[in-house]
Amino acid sequence: MEGASTTFFTRPELTAERKDFYRRLDTKGAAPLWEVLGAIIPPEPRPETVPVLWHYDDLRPLLMEAGELLTEKEAERRVLILENPGLRGKSRVTGSLYIGLQLILPGETARCHRHATAALRFVLEGNGAYTAVEGERTAMHPGDFILTPSWTFHDHGNPGDGPMVWLDGLDIPIVNLFDTSFAEHYPGEVQPNSVPYGDSLARYGANMLPVDYSPSRPSSPIFNYPYERSRAALEQLHRNSEPHACHGIKMRFVNPASGGYTMPTIGAFMQFLPRGFSGTLYRQTDATINVVVEGHGRTRIGDQVFEWRPRDIFVSPSWAPVAHAAHEDAVLFSLSDRPAQQALGLWREQVPLK
Ligand SMILES: [Fe+2]
Repeated sequence: MEGASTTFFTRPELTAERKDFYRRLDTKGAAPLWEVLGAIIPPEPRPETVPVLWHYDDLRPLLMEAGELLTEKEAERRVLILENPGLRGKSRVTGSLYIGLQLILPGETARCHRHATAALRFVLEGNGAYTAVEGERTAMHPGDFILTPSWTFHDHGNPGDGPMVWLDGLDIPIVNLFDTSFAEHYPGEVQPNSVPYGDSLARYGANMLPVDYSPSRPSSPIFNYPYERSRAALEQLHRNSEPHACHGIKMRFVNPASGGYTMPTIGAFMQFLPRGFSGTLYRQTDATINVVVEGHGRTRIGDQVFEWRPRDIFVSPSWAPVAHAAHEDAVLFSLSDRPAQQALGLWREQVPLK
């Protein structure tokens, strides 16, 4: 493979004799590598994922219609999957991740279960609902980033008086790639509320850890990163420092016990783009799902340009050139499979793109 140039892995001529040979190989469950080498080892990523943007205003009425069509109980989880146009029918937003919009109406609960797939929630609309993880409930507010790590029991409920909508992000394609999916229900509808409210944030999220803390899983012991804290940090950093030429003020959510990502397969980020910001092009190998928290702006992805507003969701494929611009102060939340790529030694970036 060394020394390959732009004429990467050319296919040999297909003669009648070779064709016959390939047919005989096929009957034995074998195939000639030289016929497919260029397709299976491209010199650069060739994602099926394409750039796409969903306007929340287009999706919300459909989500509310789903709320009239069937109950949370019937659906188990009332979710509209957002499928990448390049991956229709595969329940994927990128090659490695799944996202959906989940609705819980007042008075509803989503029964308790757990699965090997790891999930994050990013709250888009509503107040008053809760997510419970391993016996602890947390209130959900717009902009909050909530974890339900692999194999943790979780349920949701909405005792409030308005609809609650959040984005679910899961590593379903990764878990299924390895054929390691397991799932089960909790013996009851709702798990017991056995841990005091706010416990994990106080215990692990105040720049301290219990003196004898020893991690029981690779994910963060904090499961709600409240927006008011993230937003305050970004605001302060914006006042203190110049924005990065590509990313503005961009921060990574961390597991405080390790400094690593919050979960092994999905990384989460939040960035502030000041009014008038016009970012330089960059590219990275982790296809990224962006959720607009605040503000109005424009992002170039490859040769497409997307105008975005609050709660819109847009996706950049692996290795596509990306540049963000903000018409007013803006905040973007984003998620990707970067922790998995970095753990496997695969992640690359060009920042800025030369
Ligand atoms: Fe779940």
